[in-house]
Amino acid sequence: MAWWPRRRGRDPRLADRWFGAQAEEDWLHERCRLAAACIEESANVADLGCGLQVLREHLPTSCAYTGYDLGDMHPENVLLDLDGPFALPEEHDVAVLLGVLEFLADPQGALARVAEAVDAVVLSFVCVHEASKADLKRREEVGAKHHWTEEDLMQVLNERGLRSETRHLVWERPGERHVVLRLTSAD
Ligand SMILES: C[S@@+](CC[C@H](N)C(=O)[O-])C[C@H]1O[C@@H](n2cnc3c(N)ncnc32)[C@H](O)[C@@H]1O
Repeated sequence: MAWWPRRRGRDPRLADRWFGAQAEEDWLHERCRLAAACIEESANVADLGCGLQVLREHLPTSCAYTGYDLGDMHPENVLLDLDGPFALPEEHDVAVLLGVLEFLADPQGALARVAEAVDAVVLSFVCVHEASKADLKRREEVGAKHHWTEEDLMQVLNERGLRSETRHLVWERPGERHVVLRLTSAD
Protein backbone atom coordinates (compact mmCIF):
# COMPACT_ATOMS: atom_id res chain seq x y z
CA MET A 1 0.00 0.00 0.00
CA ALA A 2 1.59 3.25 -1.12
CA TRP A 3 1.25 6.43 0.94
CA TRP A 4 1.09 9.67 -1.00
CA PRO A 5 2.25 13.17 -0.06
CA ARG A 6 -0.52 15.72 0.45
CA ARG A 7 -0.61 18.23 -2.35
CA ARG A 8 -3.68 20.33 -1.75
CA GLY A 9 -5.22 22.19 1.17
CA ARG A 10 -6.47 20.12 4.06
CA ASP A 11 -10.08 20.21 5.26
CA PRO A 12 -10.22 20.36 9.09
CA ARG A 13 -12.75 17.48 9.07
CA LEU A 14 -10.09 15.07 7.81
CA ALA A 15 -8.45 12.75 10.39
CA ASP A 16 -4.74 11.85 10.27
CA ARG A 17 -5.44 8.10 10.23
CA TRP A 18 -7.30 8.47 6.91
CA PHE A 19 -4.00 9.49 5.29
CA GLY A 20 -2.37 6.11 5.82
CA ALA A 21 -2.41 4.39 9.19
CA GLN A 22 -5.85 2.84 8.69
CA ALA A 23 -4.79 1.07 5.49
CA GLU A 24 -2.51 -1.16 7.61
CA GLU A 25 -5.52 -2.74 9.34
CA ASP A 26 -6.37 -6.26 8.11
CA TRP A 27 -10.11 -5.70 8.55
CA LEU A 28 -10.00 -2.79 6.12
CA HIS A 29 -8.82 -5.11 3.35
CA GLU A 30 -11.39 -7.72 4.39
CA ARG A 31 -14.12 -5.05 4.17
CA CYS A 32 -12.92 -4.13 0.66
CA ARG A 33 -12.82 -7.82 -0.38
CA LEU A 34 -16.41 -8.31 0.81
CA ALA A 35 -17.53 -5.13 -0.95
CA ALA A 36 -15.77 -6.17 -4.18
CA ALA A 37 -17.63 -9.50 -4.03
CA CYS A 38 -20.87 -7.46 -4.27
CA ILE A 39 -19.77 -5.78 -7.53
CA GLU A 40 -20.19 -7.39 -10.92
CA GLU A 41 -17.51 -7.63 -13.64
CA SER A 42 -17.19 -4.54 -15.87
CA ALA A 43 -19.18 -2.27 -13.54
CA ASN A 44 -18.38 1.44 -13.50
CA VAL A 45 -17.70 2.09 -9.81
CA ALA A 46 -17.84 5.35 -7.85
CA ASP A 47 -15.93 4.86 -4.57
CA LEU A 48 -17.28 7.67 -2.36
CA GLY A 49 -15.06 8.61 0.58
CA CYS A 50 -12.45 6.39 -1.05
CA GLY A 51 -9.50 7.46 1.12
CA LEU A 52 -6.40 5.69 -0.19
CA GLN A 53 -8.38 3.81 -2.87
CA VAL A 54 -7.86 0.43 -1.16
CA LEU A 55 -11.05 -0.92 -2.76
CA ARG A 56 -9.48 -0.45 -6.21
CA GLU A 57 -6.92 -3.20 -5.40
CA HIS A 58 -9.72 -5.70 -4.80
CA LEU A 59 -12.02 -4.99 -7.76
CA PRO A 60 -12.10 -7.10 -10.95
CA THR A 61 -9.71 -5.52 -13.47
CA SER A 62 -12.64 -5.20 -15.89
CA CYS A 63 -14.26 -2.56 -13.64
CA ALA A 64 -13.91 1.17 -14.28
CA TYR A 65 -13.05 2.99 -11.06
CA THR A 66 -13.25 6.59 -9.82
CA GLY A 67 -12.39 7.50 -6.23
CA TYR A 68 -14.04 10.56 -4.68
CA ASP A 69 -13.07 12.07 -1.34
CA LEU A 70 -12.91 15.23 0.70
CA GLY A 71 -9.14 14.72 0.86
CA ASP A 72 -6.28 14.02 -1.53
CA MET A 73 -4.78 11.07 0.34
CA HIS A 74 -4.50 9.38 -3.08
CA PRO A 75 -3.30 11.57 -5.98
CA GLU A 76 -6.13 10.45 -8.27
CA ASN A 77 -8.91 11.26 -5.80
CA VAL A 78 -11.57 13.52 -7.28
CA LEU A 79 -12.38 16.04 -4.56
CA LEU A 80 -16.04 15.91 -3.51
CA ASP A 81 -17.84 16.88 -0.30
CA LEU A 82 -20.54 14.32 0.41
CA ASP A 83 -22.05 16.74 2.95
CA GLY A 84 -22.56 19.36 0.25
CA PRO A 85 -25.16 19.61 -2.51
CA PHE A 86 -23.07 17.32 -4.72
CA ALA A 87 -23.77 15.64 -8.05
CA LEU A 88 -21.46 12.94 -9.41
CA PRO A 89 -19.66 14.43 -12.43
CA GLU A 90 -19.98 11.23 -14.50
CA GLU A 91 -22.28 8.21 -14.76
CA HIS A 92 -21.62 5.13 -12.62
CA ASP A 93 -23.36 1.77 -12.16
CA VAL A 94 -22.43 1.24 -8.52
CA ALA A 95 -21.65 3.64 -5.67
CA VAL A 96 -19.58 2.39 -2.74
CA LEU A 97 -19.48 3.99 0.72
CA LEU A 98 -17.14 2.03 3.01
CA GLY A 99 -16.78 3.45 6.52
CA VAL A 100 -18.08 6.84 5.43
CA LEU A 101 -21.71 7.36 6.50
CA GLU A 102 -20.75 7.33 10.20
CA PHE A 103 -18.67 10.47 9.64
CA LEU A 104 -21.06 12.58 7.58
CA ALA A 105 -23.18 15.38 9.07
CA ASP A 106 -26.06 14.43 6.73
CA PRO A 107 -25.77 10.75 5.75
CA GLN A 108 -29.45 10.61 4.78
CA GLY A 109 -28.99 13.48 2.29
CA ALA A 110 -25.90 11.85 0.78
CA LEU A 111 -27.70 8.51 0.46
CA ALA A 112 -30.68 10.12 -1.26
CA ARG A 113 -28.41 11.78 -3.86
CA VAL A 114 -26.42 8.60 -4.41
CA ALA A 115 -29.48 6.34 -4.69
CA GLU A 116 -30.84 8.57 -7.47
CA ALA A 117 -27.61 8.37 -9.47
CA VAL A 118 -26.75 4.63 -9.59
CA ASP A 119 -28.26 1.16 -10.00
CA ALA A 120 -26.74 -0.29 -6.83
CA VAL A 121 -25.11 0.92 -3.61
CA VAL A 122 -22.55 -1.07 -1.61
CA LEU A 123 -21.87 0.29 1.87
CA SER A 124 -20.41 -0.62 5.22
CA PHE A 125 -21.47 0.59 8.64
CA VAL A 126 -20.27 -0.20 12.14
CA CYS A 127 -23.64 -0.66 13.86
CA VAL A 128 -24.08 -0.56 17.63
CA HIS A 129 -26.04 -3.04 19.71
CA GLU A 130 -25.97 -2.79 23.48
CA ALA A 131 -23.00 -0.43 23.17
CA SER A 132 -21.57 0.70 26.48
CA LYS A 133 -20.85 4.35 27.32
CA ALA A 134 -17.16 3.54 26.74
CA ASP A 135 -18.00 2.20 23.23
CA LEU A 136 -19.89 5.39 22.38
CA LYS A 137 -17.08 7.57 23.76
CA ARG A 138 -14.54 5.66 21.63
CA ARG A 139 -16.70 6.07 18.53
CA GLU A 140 -17.02 9.82 19.16
CA GLU A 141 -13.26 10.10 19.71
CA VAL A 142 -12.62 8.75 16.19
CA GLY A 143 -15.17 11.19 14.75
CA ALA A 144 -18.27 9.00 14.34
CA LYS A 145 -21.38 11.18 14.44
CA HIS A 146 -24.01 8.42 14.16
CA HIS A 147 -24.45 5.43 16.44
CA TRP A 148 -27.14 3.49 14.61
CA THR A 149 -28.22 -0.05 15.34
CA GLU A 150 -28.57 -2.34 12.33
CA GLU A 151 -32.35 -1.77 12.60
CA ASP A 152 -31.81 2.04 12.50
CA LEU A 153 -29.58 1.62 9.43
CA MET A 154 -32.16 -0.55 7.63
CA GLN A 155 -34.87 2.01 8.40
CA VAL A 156 -32.78 4.87 6.96
CA LEU A 157 -32.10 2.78 3.84
CA ASN A 158 -35.72 1.69 3.43
CA GLU A 159 -36.87 5.32 3.73
CA ARG A 160 -34.58 6.12 0.77
CA GLY A 161 -36.09 3.27 -1.27
CA LEU A 162 -33.05 1.01 -0.86
CA ARG A 163 -33.48 -2.71 -0.20
CA SER A 164 -30.73 -5.03 0.96
CA GLU A 165 -29.80 -7.86 -1.47
CA THR A 166 -26.64 -9.12 0.23
CA ARG A 167 -25.22 -8.80 3.74
CA HIS A 168 -21.70 -9.68 4.88
CA LEU A 169 -20.29 -9.47 8.40
CA VAL A 170 -16.78 -7.92 8.56
CA TRP A 171 -16.44 -8.39 12.33
CA GLU A 172 -18.58 -8.50 15.45
CA ARG A 173 -17.60 -7.72 19.03
CA PRO A 174 -19.57 -6.95 22.20
CA GLY A 175 -21.56 -3.78 21.48
CA GLU A 176 -20.71 -3.39 17.77
CA ARG A 177 -21.19 -5.17 14.45
CA HIS A 178 -19.52 -4.16 11.19
CA VAL A 179 -21.62 -5.01 8.13
CA VAL A 180 -21.26 -4.68 4.36
CA LEU A 181 -24.51 -4.44 2.39
CA ARG A 182 -25.37 -4.44 -1.30
CA LEU A 183 -28.55 -2.46 -1.96
CA THR A 184 -30.71 -1.74 -4.95
CA SER A 185 -33.64 0.62 -5.44
CA ALA A 186 -36.90 -0.98 -4.48
CA ASP A 187 -38.82 0.38 -7.51
C1 LIG B 1 -12.80 5.56 7.54
S1 LIG B 1 -12.20 6.33 6.07
C2 LIG B 1 -12.68 5.11 4.84
C3 LIG B 1 -11.86 5.15 3.58
C4 LIG B 1 -12.21 4.13 2.50
N1 LIG B 1 -13.63 4.16 2.16
C5 LIG B 1 -11.76 2.73 2.88
O1 LIG B 1 -12.59 1.89 3.19
O2 LIG B 1 -10.55 2.50 2.87
C6 LIG B 1 -13.44 7.61 5.82
C7 LIG B 1 -13.23 8.40 4.52
O3 LIG B 1 -14.37 9.27 4.34
C8 LIG B 1 -13.88 10.50 3.86
N2 LIG B 1 -14.85 11.56 4.18
C9 LIG B 1 -15.21 12.00 5.41
N3 LIG B 1 -16.10 13.00 5.30
C10 LIG B 1 -16.29 13.19 3.97
C11 LIG B 1 -17.10 14.11 3.22
N4 LIG B 1 -17.86 15.02 3.82
N5 LIG B 1 -17.05 14.04 1.86
C12 LIG B 1 -16.26 13.12 1.25
N6 LIG B 1 -15.48 12.23 1.90
C13 LIG B 1 -15.50 12.28 3.25
C14 LIG B 1 -12.56 10.70 4.58
O4 LIG B 1 -11.71 11.63 3.95
C15 LIG B 1 -12.00 9.28 4.58
O5 LIG B 1 -11.19 9.03 3.45
